[in-house]
Amino acid sequence: MIVPVLENDGLEVLAFALDAELDIIGVMDVGLNEDERRRAERVRLERDRRRFVVGRGQLRRILASKLGISPSDVELDYGPLGKPYLSHRMPARDLHFSFSRSGDVAVVALSTGQEVGVDIEAVLPVPEADEIAALCFSASEGGSYATLGAEDRLEGFFRRWTELEAVSKALGCGLGQSMFWNERDWVVRRFIPRSGYIGSVVIPNWHSRDVTTH
Ligand SMILES: CC(C)(COP(=O)(O)OP(=O)(O)OC[C@H]1O[C@@H](n2cnc3c(N)ncnc32)[C@H](O)[C@@H]1OP(=O)(O)O)[C@@H](O)C(=O)NCCC(=O)NCCS
Repeated sequence: MIVPVLENDGLEVLAFALDAELDIIGVMDVGLNEDERRRAERVRLERDRRRFVVGRGQLRRILASKLGISPSDVELDYGPLGKPYLSHRMPARDLHFSFSRSGDVAVVALSTGQEVGVDIEAVLPVPEADEIAALCFSASEGGSYATLGAEDRLEGFFRRWTELEAVSKALGCGLGQSMFWNERDWVVRRFIPRSGYIGSVVIPNWHSRDVTTH
């Protein structure tokens, strides 16, 4: 079942579970292309292979319903670091999307006319959270994180972490890459894909300055 978890001015986030019955997995598999099937075959753990098939299958179904075509006709291209986007051969080329999963939950963010990035994480203890924050967060993010009390710290960490990943995904780069970005260049929306999880979705803030993507 696909559930809307955020809807705001042309920006939409849909959530779904990745653990599904075998017959559903079979339906999802039918929509996948050869490359995606080969990728699924390379996933060692059966559970993760099924989750990949359901995630990609649902992504295709969501895009297909927006485009008015069938899931197997959705054509994706990839940026240099793996960011998927709709092929120029698809109708509605101004439809942008981003996909994220954590555990058995996945989300697809959709935006018309502007780039979008989404990230979700299960809120679980991270013993090295403070070290990661010191390394990865900007001065202002790190500063506000440091002021959080013990009871707000874990959620505060994941709020900033998902925001960072969402920007990285909107830009089409990876976290392994150095990334220079200004918080004012992005509009961030938070959402809860499921209890125990946290998510951030970002779109460019056109009131700030031009943001180059892909
Ligand atoms: C993109 C990335 C940040 C997401 O990581 P994650 O939080 O572990 O995973 P998520 O579930 O949130 O997102 C995965 C989805 O993001 C999308 N994605 C993959 N690469 C992406 C990229 N470069 N930009 C945006 N989205 C990307 C895909 O839809 C992927 O789903 P799939 O694995 O089912 O195809 C991470 O995979 C990454 O760093 N990739 C780039 C690799 C890279 O930079 N290599 C060189 C380093 S110098």
